[in-house]
Amino acid sequence: MKHLIIFGPPGSGKGTVSQEVAKVYGIPHISTGDLLREHVSKKTTFGLKAKEYMDRGELVPNSLVNELMEDALAKSECRKGFILDGYPRTVEQAEELEKILNKLNLHIDWVINLNVSDEEIIRRLSTRRVCKVCGAVYNTVTNPSKKEGVCDVCGGPLILRDDDKPEVVKNRLQTYAKMSAPVLSYYISRQKVLNIDGSGDVATVRARVLNTLEEKMRVK
Ligand code: AP5
Repeated sequence: MKHLIIFGPPGSGKGTVSQEVAKVYGIPHISTGDLLREHVSKKTTFGLKAKEYMDRGELVPNSLVNELMEDALAKSECRKGFILDGYPRTVEQAEELEKILNKLNLHIDWVINLNVSDEEIIRRLSTRRVCKVCGAVYNTVTNPSKKEGVCDVCGGPLILRDDDKPEVVKNRLQTYAKMSAPVLSYYISRQKVLNIDGSGDVATVRARVLNTLEEKMRVK
């Protein structure tokens, strides 16, 4: 019952909510964005190829991302559950995910769809800061670090992600509408989607998500 996807536009809070859910249920949080950024920072061949797309706010080709996901899901810790953040992002990826999970004798239980307005997204992304060293995520307004510009976890410098610059955010939102919104229809037709209001503070959204999941697990 804990094989989950978190879905929603860029900056809707997928990473933030995933971390909370993963902690409560003791399941892995698998973020394609984080996995890709790890490759980019290590300057692997894979990462260098992916960076071209990420910097433009476009999707990395399906073949690259599917391979990354197949490796991540094959780990034994995923058998008890997982929360996928940022994958699938195209209908082709959703179909590929189904094939990967079939091989592992697993299936998706629920898709948590976070609804947040574009205005709020732009506000959240322009004020997001990430640690250049460990990737911890902050927000200058809603979740500031104790010391300005310095990571609480590792002391690394906090930066604006390259793809959080306004012109790239615009492109990411357009890419989402064109390529990723159809994924929602794919899961709606399979009756997997739980719509959650993603506005309000982190504690409020966390409670909405966990309460909805608990309710569904009680009923099933
Ligand atoms: P990815 O890193 O997945 O980016 P994204 O989907 O655009 O999502 P974000 O990480 O920007 O936002 P989020 O929804 O996780 O929000 P967060 O919790 O950080 O992907 C980056 C790129 O990689 C893509 O553009 C693409 O190129 C490539 N890629 C990734 N997956 C791919 C795939 N499957 N296929 C192809 N390409 C792929 O929150 C945002 C901010 O708001 C933070 O500052 C946070 O502190 C704050 N915040 C969160 N919740 C709240 C709240 N409730 N109230 C107030 N502030 C909040």
